[in-house]
Amino acid sequence: MKIKAGIIGASGYTGYELVKILGRHGKVELSSLNSKSHSGQTVRSLYNDFWDDKLRFTNLSIDEINKMGVDVVFTALPSKESIDVVQKLKTRVIDLSADFRFSNPKVYEKVYGIKNDSKIKAVYGLPELFRDEIKKAKVVANPGCYATACILAALPIQKFASSIIFDCKSGYSGAGAKPTYANQPENYADNIIAYNITKHRHKYEIEQFIKTKLSFTPHVIPVFRGLMCTMHAILKKKGSSEKIKKLYKGFYRKEPFVKITEGKLPELHDVQNNNYCCVGGFEIDENNQLVVVSVIDNLLKGASGQAVQNMNIMFGIDESEGLV
Ligand SMILES: NC(=O)c1ccc[n+]([C@@H]2O[C@H](COP(=O)([O-])OP(=O)(O)OC[C@H]3O[C@@H](n4cnc5c(N)ncnc54)[C@H](OP(=O)(O)O)[C@@H]3O)[C@@H](O)[C@H]2O)c1
Repeated sequence: MKIKAGIIGASGYTGYELVKILGRHGKVELSSLNSKSHSGQTVRSLYNDFWDDKLRFTNLSIDEINKMGVDVVFTALPSKESIDVVQKLKTRVIDLSADFRFSNPKVYEKVYGIKNDSKIKAVYGLPELFRDEIKKAKVVANPGCYATACILAALPIQKFASSIIFDCKSGYSGAGAKPTYANQPENYADNIIAYNITKHRHKYEIEQFIKTKLSFTPHVIPVFRGLMCTMHAILKKKGSSEKIKKLYKGFYRKEPFVKITEGKLPELHDVQNNNYCCVGGFEIDENNQLVVVSVIDNLLKGASGQAVQNMNIMFGIDESEGLV
């Protein structure tokens, strides 16, 4: 029996990635692709690289989706828009927004400027940390893209570091399809744009899991997809590159989507259009500062790929199904 899956927010960048992955996933039947603005239109009329010219966006009510016997719904809506929708869904949910990522509602309110009064206790959907909890979850809060790359870079070393700086660069698809300053060609072309240099929302998401004093600065670069985190960690004690590489290899030895890169530093070409996070570097300078580079595709391991990885875990199928 196939898993019946629905998508709400299917016309956006992460929604379309979900349509592509789930459309080819051997164990999934796509049952609804909700889009308010494109309902009735074919997916191909919006994304001309899509292989099927018949599949159409839907505009079903939450009640209708609940009555269809859907097993899981992916909500790929802007943050703040998911709170209400997720509460009404009776199915299992994987939410790509930030609305359920914070265990402390007061932190969510401070960072996003809105209250989430729902009683839902979602599981943070980073398989490398919470695989067992994800298996049983009713609602999974899929992590943010920067948060994924930074947390995976820092997890093995955090207790050996006195402070960490995350210097991050993202392709402009990170801001979604809705026009913003940074996703307009006249702004991103031949340019690098730093933004929210001390108080970006993902800093507070990262702080839930990385307990070392940290600083986080994002930049938008002129590529469509891909995200790099260059992590600088001041080590408490003198360390050796080789030992640290061994530590990372051991930490991630069973992880299907984390690759420790040797010989060459990770770069965006290693991860664009795949669900891997590549981690490498591990050099230590004369100030005992460790530098680690992690890269992901913001739309895949940073969003829709990780969401499908979570679905595979929730339904007890091979974690890599549909992703390799
Ligand atoms: N882009 C990334 O790299 C990335 C990575 C990780 C997480 N995320 C998160 O994933 C979610 C979706 O991101 P995205 O990049 O796919 O965004 P997007 O391209 O802007 O798509 C969002 C979709 O949500 C629907 N929508 C419903 N209510 C809306 C509203 N009030 N304003 C705007 N759109 C509305 C829109 O479709 P209809 O109007 O057709 O219904 C739209 O296509 C966001 O919460 C984002 O933070 C994104």
